[in-house]
Amino acid sequence: MRLDYLTIFPDFFAPLELSLPGKAAASGLLDVRVHDLRQWATDRHHTVDDTPYGGGAGMVMKPEPWGEAFGALGVGAGTTVVFTTPSGEPFDQRLAAELSGRERLVFACGRYEGIDQRVIDHAREIAEVREISLGDYVLNGGEVAALAVTEAVVRLLPGFMGNADSLVEESHAEGGLLEYPVYTKPRTWQGREVPEVLLSGDHGRVAAWRAEEARRRTALRRPDLLHPSVLDDGSPIVRAVPADAGEILTLQRACWLQEALANDTLDIPALQESLDDVRAGLAEWDTWVVRRAGRLVAAARGKLEDATTWDIGRVMVAPDLQGSGLGRVLLEHIQAVAPEQVTSYQLFTGAASARNQRLYKKAGFRLRPDLPGPPHTVTLTKRR
Ligand code: ADE
Repeated sequence: MRLDYLTIFPDFFAPLELSLPGKAAASGLLDVRVHDLRQWATDRHHTVDDTPYGGGAGMVMKPEPWGEAFGALGVGAGTTVVFTTPSGEPFDQRLAAELSGRERLVFACGRYEGIDQRVIDHAREIAEVREISLGDYVLNGGEVAALAVTEAVVRLLPGFMGNADSLVEESHAEGGLLEYPVYTKPRTWQGREVPEVLLSGDHGRVAAWRAEEARRRTALRRPDLLHPSVLDDGSPIVRAVPADAGEILTLQRACWLQEALANDTLDIPALQESLDDVRAGLAEWDTWVVRRAGRLVAAARGKLEDATTWDIGRVMVAPDLQGSGLGRVLLEHIQAVAPEQVTSYQLFTGAASARNQRLYKKAGFRLRPDLPGPPHTVTLTKRR
């Protein structure tokens, strides 16, 4: 694989000569070339930036040096130009795997406020272009991002890693889970023991333990990986923030007024709540919401009732979107984010709320007449 780096800070790429990429370059697997963009700046000072049209803070990278550089490097068919930028698509293992199949990557590392848009448009005309972001934060330039992308891509090349198994089992590989915790000798360190199962020699038990730990870790740290938190239309299910309290109160009043009518009572706590009550609820419950076109259209929340029971509450969908499947997806989500130790779910709904009861029963919940809830309600439970 051929790798080119266009940068005004070539020294940033010294680490490419270290360790594995260095060895791969020496063995001919990689052909790595770092270029100082300023060599293609024609003025006496090798200027690569200028003030932005339309005004505003900072400087923009001029197009001419980039155009010259692409020409000199023969950027064209068979080349993928990677612009590292905070406004690019998020970099992940899937993208790393995709890029590892390319013949040649040219990394264009922007600085300042970015590169003149025409450079990207031009590159797209002569080659494949990917604009890639390392994450939702801003670095001073694209060099560190280009290094990170390089390392993730290059280690996937056949013949690069000594042990191909370590590619299969690691975090974000095929299973889409985070990696399980790992241990090595000594058996006891600072009074801490290695989990007994790993010393048992029972491969089946070890594999089961690792699978469970991977799932538990993922549920705790990255519930979004375990369960799709994006609806069919692309709107994400996200954790509520305190600023959502007002909209949640509005949604709650709309939904519980329907409940009040269906159950012929105004004696419903959710209907009586104030904005402060909703704020307090947000602090106490793990609350998730869906926004569509900027509007908060659905919410649900969960809380540990006891060590193993996940109490689900306030599953709400805006009246104009009820029946669209939002409630079902949200209900699945609020179960999926329950902590690992949870073995059963519990919720209650209006005794006369036929539509709600249908939704819950379809999702596997069962009526529990033996577990009375608040007035005018029925309790439903489900085993995890
Ligand atoms: N350049 C500046 N910030 C960046 C980021 N988050 N990802 C990729 N390139 C960047």
